[in-house]
Amino acid sequence: METVVSGIRSTGNLHLGNYFGALKNFVKMQHENNCYFFIADYHSLTTHPTPDDLHGKVKQVLAEYLACGLDPEASTIYLQSDVPEISELYLLLNMNAYVGELERTTSFKDKIRKNPENVNAGLLTYPVLMAADIIIHNATRVPVGKDQEQNLEMARKFARRFNNMYKVDYFKEPQPYNFGEALVKIPGLDGTGKMGKSEGNGIYLFDDAKTIKKKVMKAVTDSGPTEKNSEMPEIIQNLFTLMDVVSDKSTIDFFREKYAECEIRYGDLKKQLAEDITNFNAPIRERILDNLSNNDYLRKVAKMGAEKARESASKTVKDVREIFGFKSF
Ligand code: TRP
Repeated sequence: METVVSGIRSTGNLHLGNYFGALKNFVKMQHENNCYFFIADYHSLTTHPTPDDLHGKVKQVLAEYLACGLDPEASTIYLQSDVPEISELYLLLNMNAYVGELERTTSFKDKIRKNPENVNAGLLTYPVLMAADIIIHNATRVPVGKDQEQNLEMARKFARRFNNMYKVDYFKEPQPYNFGEALVKIPGLDGTGKMGKSEGNGIYLFDDAKTIKKKVMKAVTDSGPTEKNSEMPEIIQNLFTLMDVVSDKSTIDFFREKYAECEIRYGDLKKQLAEDITNFNAPIRERILDNLSNNDYLRKVAKMGAEKARESASKTVKDVREIFGFKSF
């Protein structure tokens, strides 16, 4: 049994990429592991220091997590900002994190290039906060995509450095959780690679039929194959990758055949794809709406999660304070 930690920033709704890339696997893995799933609302502030509706965004992600099948009894689901011990560990870890190494991380360089007017210290120390999130539960595994590998490596480095500096063997070095075959990369519909919030090419679990249709119909295609059984260019393959996760096998076979025979009509394929995504989303969307209208339930879940998370976190902070040498009179 592993201790698993995963955080998600609350800057936007969950999309199909989040679902098939991670959430679907979380739902399975939560019964076999000791899982902590949290909403990284502090991390969101590093890029969005004055969000218009911080609470609403956090509430939406919580409602969506639950709608996807994360089970607050089986796992620990909480808000980062509900666990003050994380902030304390972050403060302490900051003393052992060097400005130079933080400045060299790719995500920091990326973010300051995109937003040169907001080079704040929270952005610089983002990996320190993320390390605190992870090692506060002494996690052994963290499911991460490519873009988070470096941050996880930093978490390992901070854990190792702590052990070395204070001559203890306290923190474990968190390893990536590999879903292996189960991991599906969902492409965006604009032909530019993966589906992402910041890329603005996402289909959200909360999107309704009309929105989905509009987005799918706008997807980039080409003028169609001219030779039978020809290989698909990436932008067409992308549509089939989406079909693979939401459509019936017979539907997929039908359109693959049409493509192979050069008889494909992209308009028909998109219409079908939009319908299948809508059907896939429908029950999830309904549960999201249900959760959103049930504030008592969300409050209960958040409270229970915070209590469970703090139990584990406060033990770590107590030990760490002792290791540093803090003592009461
Ligand atoms: N940085 C992660 C992301 O953008 C979110 C995150 C914050 C996280 N803390 C974490 C992920 C701890 C895993 C573990 O996706």
